[in-house]
Amino acid sequence: MKKLKIKGFFKDITGSMRVSKRRNASIKNASPVNDYKDPIKELALELHPVVTHVIVKKVEDVSPTARKFTFVAIDGDKLPPFEAGQYVSLDLEIDGKKAYRPYSISSAPFQARSGEEPFFEITVRNGRPGQGYVSSYIYANLKEGMKLEAHLPYGQFHIEPLRDSKNIVALAGGSGITPFYSMAQEIAHGTLDVDLTILYGSVSHDDIILEKQIQAIHCPRVKFINVISGEGAKLLPGDEKGFISRDIIKKYSVDQDPSNGKTTYFVCGPLPMYLFINKELEALKVPYRRIRMEVFGSTPDVTKNEGYPAGKEKEVYKITVKRGIHEDIIDAKGSETIQNAMERAGIPHETRCRSGACGWCRTKVEKGEFFVPSVGDGRRAADKEYGYVHACATYPLSDMVIKIEIE
Ligand code: FES
Repeated sequence: MKKLKIKGFFKDITGSMRVSKRRNASIKNASPVNDYKDPIKELALELHPVVTHVIVKKVEDVSPTARKFTFVAIDGDKLPPFEAGQYVSLDLEIDGKKAYRPYSISSAPFQARSGEEPFFEITVRNGRPGQGYVSSYIYANLKEGMKLEAHLPYGQFHIEPLRDSKNIVALAGGSGITPFYSMAQEIAHGTLDVDLTILYGSVSHDDIILEKQIQAIHCPRVKFINVISGEGAKLLPGDEKGFISRDIIKKYSVDQDPSNGKTTYFVCGPLPMYLFINKELEALKVPYRRIRMEVFGSTPDVTKNEGYPAGKEKEVYKITVKRGIHEDIIDAKGSETIQNAMERAGIPHETRCRSGACGWCRTKVEKGEFFVPSVGDGRRAADKEYGYVHACATYPLSDMVIKIEIE
């Protein structure tokens, strides 16, 4: 019985070897299937292309410190559809080093899917304290006719009819107005069915960006209120004075009752504004499901974040960066993100949101201490457990060893 089994076993093996030889030969001689199309994959690529090649069509000043850039698609590419409030990530090369930066799309979605020359726009502010070098570079150097690679659309900061109420109060500061300008235009066009009140906090009227453009939207469903905080700053009719406080938020909420769940609050602006408004919404007992937040970029001053160990911002640490067969040792300041340190050293590592939310810059920490501000902590529970961080929102607190994907 045993022998027979062994014989059968060999017979089976030689038999299957013959079949696999035949199969290999037929695969080798097979003609390529040129016309095979995967409709699902093609649709996915149309909705979310890996890259869209664009050219700067127009540059326009929209305040003493902000510029609007209009892009159209080139090289046979088409602009993918997006939602008002989403962002685009631009690829740039500055002094021979790659940089990736996200910008909220300030134009409306309908403008990218209709008209003779569909387009999208971003609006970039210059001269803010702590502003990154890429925004300054774009503001000063991006000219009509320049070609770029863009990745879009990204982000969850858009109105979702199944989740959000039909009454939206937008709380904006600085360039945080840009996603709301996009929403306002889409509402006025009739393709977004909500009522929107924008409360826009500025120090003075000189700081307001896109003011003329927003005032030019004549739509009963869109209200625009400037909240001016500067001491002695001039107020115009309709302005509110001070910061976007709980009293002002209450005044513009449905039934003047923010706790009733009838208003959804969208918050977009710099970190200090975010921290202030968070407390105000908490005091007003706004249901958590009615609050949507978007923080721009990494925190400009990490020491302002709760839990940051004082003094560490003055240190410079050594970070060993492993990627495939490469291993580099770079300097990283305690006050900067690991992502920033890698970019300064010329190590390529792609990003999208740069605020810790999307996970694109996911990095394995093999050794070392680090700090992640709670505002920019978009890590999943499993990532926390297994030592993964988002490099764009992680600050070193000691020498570290990290591992990134090779690009
Ligand atoms: S780029 Fe989105 S989390 Fe870092």
